[in-house]
Amino acid sequence: MKFVLATQNPKKKEELAAILGDLGVEIVTEEELGVKVEVEETGNTFGENAALKAKAVMEATGLPAIGDDSGLCVDAMKGAPGVYSARYGGEELSDEERCALVLEMMHGQTDRAAHFETYIVCAFPNGDWFAAKGECHGAIAFAPMGKNGFGYDPIFFRTEEQKTFGQMTAEEKAAISHRGNALRSFKTKLEKYLREHPEA
Ligand code: IMP
Repeated sequence: MKFVLATQNPKKKEELAAILGDLGVEIVTEEELGVKVEVEETGNTFGENAALKAKAVMEATGLPAIGDDSGLCVDAMKGAPGVYSARYGGEELSDEERCALVLEMMHGQTDRAAHFETYIVCAFPNGDWFAAKGECHGAIAFAPMGKNGFGYDPIFFRTEEQKTFGQMTAEEKAAISHRGNALRSFKTKLEKYLREHPEA
């Protein structure tokens, strides 16, 4: 069965194809199908945004579509940057500047608790859909550490591993990350859906 991934990011396809490989499903990107669906991320939650993306791409292509949305939620910042993670502080900021802004907002704050969240939604042309969620809990560091990864990785500290996401290898991060957890849950749900819908 062919699924289209609602993203312009080829890395996300590799990641998804690697985890779903043994289910015998084919993943294609919007670009590979020659479509580019502009979806306004107007949802108040990661789940709403993931569903908006999946539904729009499913409608544009007529194929089952997978959409995802992730972000960082900081307790002492009332859950910000949340759904605004990618553009927190303004579209023009670099990842480094965005990390610096969060550190500034957290200056003098003793409650450093934070978590990353990912929602993945799969929407089928027959109206069926399901969602998978993943979380990863940690703390906002006092300074950026590590150069790996992207986004807020250098300031997201995990007590268990005693390092930030920015100090982990891609494999170390994937084993515990919000996206890794969401992808593993998504795989289980997709496997169940395909078993219960052999005609799909
Ligand atoms: P997306 O929905 O996966 O594109 O993520 C939206 C934004 O959340 C990204 O642009 C990053 O700022 C932030 N983000 C999501 N996942 C991660 C992560 O694993 N590490 C660091 N930042 C992340």
